[in-house]
Amino acid sequence: MSASHLELDLVERPFTDRGTRLLVTAGPGPADGLRVARAEYETPLAETTDLTGLLVHGADGRPLPVVSATPVEVAFAGGVSLLFADPATLVITGHGARASWRLPDGTGRTLALDGCHVLAGPPGEWSAPAVRAASEARWADWFARMPAVRPDLAERARMAWWTLAVNLLPIAGREGLVPSKYGYVGVWNWDALFHAVALRHGDPALARDQILLFLDHQLPDGRLPDVVHEHGVLADTTDLPRADHARLAQHVGTANGARPERAPVPVTKPPLAAWAVWKVHETDPDVPFLAAVYPRLVRAHAWWFAASDPDGDGLPEYLHPYSSGLDDSPVWDYGPRAEPPDLNSYLVLEADRLADIAGALGRPAEAARWRERAAAHARLLVARRWDGTRFTTLAAGAPVPVRTALDLMPLFTGRLPAGVAAALERTLRSPAYWGERPVPTVAFDDPAFDPEAMWRGPVWLNVNYLLAEGLQRSGFPDTAAELRERTVAMVRDAGGLYEYWNPLTGARAPRATSGFGWSAALFLDLARMVG
Ligand code: GLC
Repeated sequence: MSASHLELDLVERPFTDRGTRLLVTAGPGPADGLRVARAEYETPLAETTDLTGLLVHGADGRPLPVVSATPVEVAFAGGVSLLFADPATLVITGHGARASWRLPDGTGRTLALDGCHVLAGPPGEWSAPAVRAASEARWADWFARMPAVRPDLAERARMAWWTLAVNLLPIAGREGLVPSKYGYVGVWNWDALFHAVALRHGDPALARDQILLFLDHQLPDGRLPDVVHEHGVLADTTDLPRADHARLAQHVGTANGARPERAPVPVTKPPLAAWAVWKVHETDPDVPFLAAVYPRLVRAHAWWFAASDPDGDGLPEYLHPYSSGLDDSPVWDYGPRAEPPDLNSYLVLEADRLADIAGALGRPAEAARWRERAAAHARLLVARRWDGTRFTTLAAGAPVPVRTALDLMPLFTGRLPAGVAAALERTLRSPAYWGERPVPTVAFDDPAFDPEAMWRGPVWLNVNYLLAEGLQRSGFPDTAAELRERTVAMVRDAGGLYEYWNPLTGARAPRATSGFGWSAALFLDLARMVG
């Protein structure tokens, strides 16, 4: 079996390719044939379908089943194949067989196969052997760049590395990695940073592009948008798609985002850009890149203090659920603004990374100032939010009882007093958060815990990744290693790169999407680390 071999099930893993919006999926039964649709921002595939019911019959009229689907081609019996000739063009090749399908208006089409025919895309002449050879070479080259992982993780890693390739689309003048061609067809802020963490191993330039795509769209006030998509950006509540207002009204009754008639509220994502920049630089040093991004990262950092700290206590808050990245967390059940302890933990680490970057740029005085900022901000976080047993989450300015995995995120700073860090590690190892599959996003014993509802309990790989890194930085390498090991085992055993997992069963939570970019990216980076 070649390194690039991967079976596509044409359900969770459609036949698609790097740079194309076209997706080929199978109907529920073999007689339903295949469907070709296009991935578009905020549009269900049912509205972007090119054709359905694609079936192939041999010269004798007998149906020719699909015999294999790989990144290179979908092969039917009788030597018929579907291949991508280029990102805009899906071809069907074969001789003596007949293909039939239905157009969206219900009319039928048939085609006698005799060579290489365009099935979707602009008219053109293609040679089947040349198209197949190019596709094989493209995939061989991509898989040759995959980071090495141990044998029991290899199959899932191939799936992850393939996911990262096929989720790439041309967006805003760059190649942007979308979270999923099912439902998330744009480039989301912190997703892009997590994607860069994996891409740095095989294609550092592409990793830097993910970060630049966001920095290119920085707003005049310094904020980074929540989403960059083919029609523009989502940077405040007036940019929210219609469906999101409904979604927000449902699960965040009192949040600003649920009331579009109010003054626009900025929408962004947690501040981790300097963290990602430094990771890419550590793998593939690039001082000109650091010089290009540094002033923009400084402005992005300053925005939080200037524009997102309504009570002026020096500890910024999230002004909208989406800015936290945890859309439906129970933190949002208590009001329209929230300050879980993760935000200020990230800001501490960002200051440390800005110090690293300033140092690498030969600006030691600036680096020292950032280092002091990081230390002072960590002290402020502990002084104001540590109540002696836990970090409190504020919502609309008042402490809330809900306990989420974000309460443990101050470990990420690596700057806590030893007793505080030890208490957090103990809490993480307690039955509230530690099970066969840590870490539930809401404590197992919290009344709001729901194993299947998005950010109300399921395991997400970004939270685990950041916590494992925080444990390592805070002096708990064994717990960090165990968390990484349990995380990769869960992903290996569940079968796919889902958006989030049920922490009780380890299965995909029913509403979670598949082929999810940051699950693929962070699984790969963790798999590399567990060695
Ligand atoms: C969901 C997640 C958010 C993520 C986005 C794109 O809205 O809650 O954190 O950035 O999807 O993947």
